[in-house]
Amino acid sequence: MSTLPPSPATQGVALAAYGLAKAYDGGLVVAVRHADIALASGEWVAITGPTGCGKSTLLSLLTLLEPPDAGEIVIDGLQARALRSPEAWRLANVGIVFQFHFLLPHLTVAGNLAVPLMATRMPASQQQERVRELLARLHLEHRASTLAAHLSGGERQLVALGRALVNRPRLIFADEPTGAVDSATGELLLNELFSTSHSPRPTILLVTHDPAVARRAHRVLPMCDGILGTPAGSSTG
Ligand SMILES: Nc1ncnc2c1ncn2[C@@H]1O[C@H](COP(=O)(O)OP(=O)(O)O)[C@@H](O)[C@H]1O
Ligand SMILES: [Mg+2]
Repeated sequence: MSTLPPSPATQGVALAAYGLAKAYDGGLVVAVRHADIALASGEWVAITGPTGCGKSTLLSLLTLLEPPDAGEIVIDGLQARALRSPEAWRLANVGIVFQFHFLLPHLTVAGNLAVPLMATRMPASQQQERVRELLARLHLEHRASTLAAHLSGGERQLVALGRALVNRPRLIFADEPTGAVDSATGELLLNELFSTSHSPRPTILLVTHDPAVARRAHRVLPMCDGILGTPAGSSTG
């Protein structure tokens, strides 16, 4: 049985996972086989790999959106299993950008950006300031009152990034955030993601198909057939 490292070893580690596994369809589809990962505080890590290799599943495990079949997730040295409310943890600490934006179509751009702030006790004036700041950073000031349903695909993805950043999360997860946008919007989105400098500096885990995007990370972890960290081109046959 694997035991967790003692707490000194996890100092400075924002999030770690040991032996994570996840299968679907009664075990017929093994999405994640046995993933070990440790993200240092403030580190930017990219995960690359072909479609279907388990990248999104791994992200859903690490963000506690889905429970693993096996393995442990340790957040700031504490077992994720022991968290009373994964939702509250996520809201306070995590920003997620999915490949497809999941905005609320009947809310305006400013309204969508403010959604994660509503569950906080932040005064309304400070909430408005946060929203204004993100509208400016993402070049969306002229769209503040536009319904999300009326935005272009690229604009929607920028709003999705803004919504992930508005609570100034310590951990940011982005799942192919530029996969469905034009190159200029993708560039703006990545620049804003990587220039995010609120304190403490966020830890970023980014899934991408694009080697140029991956090169912007401190570390690249390839993923293949549910196995994380297999070097590109190697094969066990
Ligand atoms: N909710 C689900 N139910 C059944 N199979 C799933 C589910 N989510 C993912 N899978 C399967 O798990 C494997 C990994 O999928 P995914 O994590 O989405 O890969 P990637 O993000 O690398 O494209 C694929 O075979 C996919 O079809
Ligand atoms: Mg995916």
